[in-house]
Amino acid sequence: MEDTQAISYYSPTFYQNPYERFQQFIEKGEIHRVKFPSGVYGWLVTGYDAAIKTLKHPNIRKSHKVGNAQWSKLASVMPEPQHTRLQQHLLHQDPPRHTEMRSLIMEAFSSSRTEQFRDKITTIVHQLIEPLIESGECDLIADFALPMPFLVLSEVIGLSEKHRKQFKPEWCKAVQPLSPNHPGRAGYLNLLDELESYIENIIIESRGGDSDRLIVQLISARDNNKLSHDELTSMLFQLLVAGQEPVTNQIGNAILALLEHPEQLEALKQDATNMDNALTELLRYDGSFAFTTWRFFNQETEWLGQTIPAGETIIVALNAANHDPAKFSCPHQLNFNRKRNKSLSFGYANHFCPAMPLARLELEISIRAILHYLPNIQLACDIKELDWINAVLTRGLHALPVTYTSEL
Ligand code: HEM
Repeated sequence: MEDTQAISYYSPTFYQNPYERFQQFIEKGEIHRVKFPSGVYGWLVTGYDAAIKTLKHPNIRKSHKVGNAQWSKLASVMPEPQHTRLQQHLLHQDPPRHTEMRSLIMEAFSSSRTEQFRDKITTIVHQLIEPLIESGECDLIADFALPMPFLVLSEVIGLSEKHRKQFKPEWCKAVQPLSPNHPGRAGYLNLLDELESYIENIIIESRGGDSDRLIVQLISARDNNKLSHDELTSMLFQLLVAGQEPVTNQIGNAILALLEHPEQLEALKQDATNMDNALTELLRYDGSFAFTTWRFFNQETEWLGQTIPAGETIIVALNAANHDPAKFSCPHQLNFNRKRNKSLSFGYANHFCPAMPLARLELEISIRAILHYLPNIQLACDIKELDWINAVLTRGLHALPVTYTSEL
């Protein structure tokens, strides 16, 4: 049934400048009835305090079983049997199972272990940037930000050389399902089949390997009955596929923000000790995980002045919360000296991104290298010509063409 109160806000102009639209939402209130591109009706939370309270609400659930019939029909479109086999990872679990599964990966992504990869990540970044220096121009997404996260992830989760070579970048599109009547559906199903066989082969061929490797640890958790087979394949799917795109997009968003603010870019180049604050601010200013994934209330709940039926979709607009003037003064300004900059770029509460230290380290090393090796970097097109990815949760660019002087 058509819901005439619901706002449909996704459009090409929305992607050009979502912050203007978010501002209008925030002025109207903390929660809004919306129609998502899938046709699903649900709720969008935009205020910072409301976002925090929602993400830790005791009635909030992630399990797809809690979603109502409209959501299951229109939005949960990964087909069976892959839906069952690949959709049991952390973002679809609730405590206590979520806590048990999450504990299996936390050590591998801890700050101290991540720091041990600094030299390796630096080498990967330099190997990708060096061939770009001479030409004086490149597409920073295709030539750098796209390949880099997979190479890093392979090291951190312990993907063997053989499996690295077999990985097809197009498998990352598995997280963007095409509906059953979409002309590209057959191609999408084929991609899922290939990805599933790849993951099954990783499990068979990595079993009993070096126990330092996260992949081997997860397989032995399965062998010790701490994970079901479907939970294992889902977790590997999530680590391999979902951990790449936000890093790629965040590099693009951060470099674009710096190109739009040449004084801050120059200041950061001169005083790289401010990198930590700069990174926090770049993540707040234009985060790549613009919205959380789906959530549902497990029972009818009075929330932020609305009565929300059980199973209706709730999404938190992280980038709107990060630009809430009640929390951040002059929120649309890029300010590396902002105090108490507690943004929600990596989410909040139970599902807070476990790989934040890794993502920040990748960003830090990448930004330092780009500013150092690609001097006088500038946007090679009009900013209005930039093509933003048209996806529900994502904030990122298809391409970021830049020029720079080639001598060092
Ligand atoms: C700049 C890069 C990144 C950003 C901005 C980011 C952001 C986020 C956010 C906002 C969430 C929570 C989503 C929600 O609550 O619905 C999340 C969860 C997650 N992220 Fe990241 N992420 C990044 C990089 C990575 C990387 C490199 C990995 C490594 C594989 C990763 C693995 C995960 C996992 C496994 C979860 C699910 C955690 C759970 O449900 O308990 N992320 N991320």
